[in-house]
Amino acid sequence: MSKFIILLSLVLGFTLAAEAQSSLPALRKQGAATQLIVGGKPYLMLAGELHNSSCSNVEYMEDIWPRMKQLNMNTILAPVSWELIEPEEGRFDFTLVDAMIKGAEKSDLKLVILWFASWKNGGSIYIPSWVKKDYKRFPRAVDHNGNSIEILSTFADESMKADAKAFAAFMKYIHEADRNSTIIMVQVENEMGILNTIRDFSPAANRAFNSPIPQELSVWLGRNKNRLTPELQKVWTQNGSKTTGTWEEVFGRSTLDVKDWRSLSFYTEELFMAYHYARYVGHIAQAGKKEHDIPLFVNAWLKGPDYPWTGRFPGGGPLPQVMDMWRCAAPAIDFLSPDIYIPYFREVVGQYDRLDNPVFIPETMGGDVGASRVLWAIGEHNIMGFSPFGVDRVRRMPATASNQAPAADPLAETYALLGGMSELIMQHQGKGTMRGILVEKESPVQTFELGNYIVTADASMSQLLETTSAGGLIIQLGSDEYIVLGRNLNVRFAPRTPGDLPLVGIDKVYEGAFRNGVWTPGRLLNGDETHCSTFSGTGLKMPGAGIQRITLYRYK
Ligand code: DGJ
Repeated sequence: MSKFIILLSLVLGFTLAAEAQSSLPALRKQGAATQLIVGGKPYLMLAGELHNSSCSNVEYMEDIWPRMKQLNMNTILAPVSWELIEPEEGRFDFTLVDAMIKGAEKSDLKLVILWFASWKNGGSIYIPSWVKKDYKRFPRAVDHNGNSIEILSTFADESMKADAKAFAAFMKYIHEADRNSTIIMVQVENEMGILNTIRDFSPAANRAFNSPIPQELSVWLGRNKNRLTPELQKVWTQNGSKTTGTWEEVFGRSTLDVKDWRSLSFYTEELFMAYHYARYVGHIAQAGKKEHDIPLFVNAWLKGPDYPWTGRFPGGGPLPQVMDMWRCAAPAIDFLSPDIYIPYFREVVGQYDRLDNPVFIPETMGGDVGASRVLWAIGEHNIMGFSPFGVDRVRRMPATASNQAPAADPLAETYALLGGMSELIMQHQGKGTMRGILVEKESPVQTFELGNYIVTADASMSQLLETTSAGGLIIQLGSDEYIVLGRNLNVRFAPRTPGDLPLVGIDKVYEGAFRNGVWTPGRLLNGDETHCSTFSGTGLKMPGAGIQRITLYRYK
């Protein structure tokens, strides 16, 4: 081979490798939003999470992928566990990973992998047998009575290094094997945190708790003193805004408030555990990113009336009140996400949409409620994706033509509408031209300003909310034009500044759909479909789920 050809093939090789790298999934800011970029374009994850054991057998998982496609999902969250990929120390087996990539690709789905390793729902139940049994090398955390619990201690560097080694091996493998970037993100661990005790009481943990806070945290507090969560800011200021001292000197001695689940009971212990979980997981994430640089995130089991303080929920996990510790100690983690099973959906999403944390909801409820919530969350908080848990519950779905939602599944129906419209949604994220609507029994009417109009939304029939939910997203297309993807909604428009033309009327309303991203109008709606005696005001009537586009006009 001539020198020239060798040189040319080297250059070509480098260029191809660089191209593959630059097209890896990544996060990118657009105005106030952070978007997930897949294949060079913003990508909205219309997702669902599989049951924990569904991907532990090649044959079992085979028919899952087409069934998920029938539910109009474009992304599946599925676990890869440490115990299955490293059954013996240093011997890796990626057979299941290959089957997942192949199965997902065949059904045109993307994957978000859940790395079930040191911790899953607090416990260390997915660690390989060789880790489980070697409790001296991989010590467990200790509770307030001095008993070991089935949770790896965050204070054991051997455990952290072994998990990081396995994670790096997995990421290295997919860097080679996943040529089409079917895997778009990875969740590191699952709902980690300490359970049934307020903190780790092992000798190493006790020493750390009674020693000065880590130097890294001291520096970080000083640098971020004006950019903290209000929860931490309040407690830290009350204790004198110190950057040095023991955990209790800097953050105060914890108190317990049994009456109010929202109070910050055992907060210092929670901050302490959060810092140490974040340090451990941050190390694993960094080792993985070195091999394959795609977005990494963590998820949280939230505090709620049934889980009011640290240890009742997995304490130290990435909950909103300890977000600062995670931001400080785990820079390789790109964002923190909530698993939302408690009723305070709006509040939780708001708590994660802070300090530039992009919002993704890896676990929540689907069905009718989920179908309304996903619209609100996309419109209001620019979420990157939505993923109800346990979507493979139904073993067989009736066969449907592609792109047609199985009518019985409200989320599938909504995902079909969202899928068509996602390009337009992504164009409007972060620009202040999109809002979300969620109408519930406790808040039956929602009013906000968007462009030149005041928008008011309520449920399309007053009795509707007894059995079902209503929600939507609205995009301002022009000075007098809007598009609404809604479910069970009435949407009315009034001028924001009445001025010379105080009255508003409907020029045209079309129902329609997006086909290959292009708006395709259907019926022109008028008469009973836009006006009737029970509907007062100017706007849209949207019984069921659909997309409508409205042009308004002004007069006097
Ligand atoms: C939350 C966990 O993260 C999931 O893996 C699963 O165990 C669900 N709970 C079950 O409801």
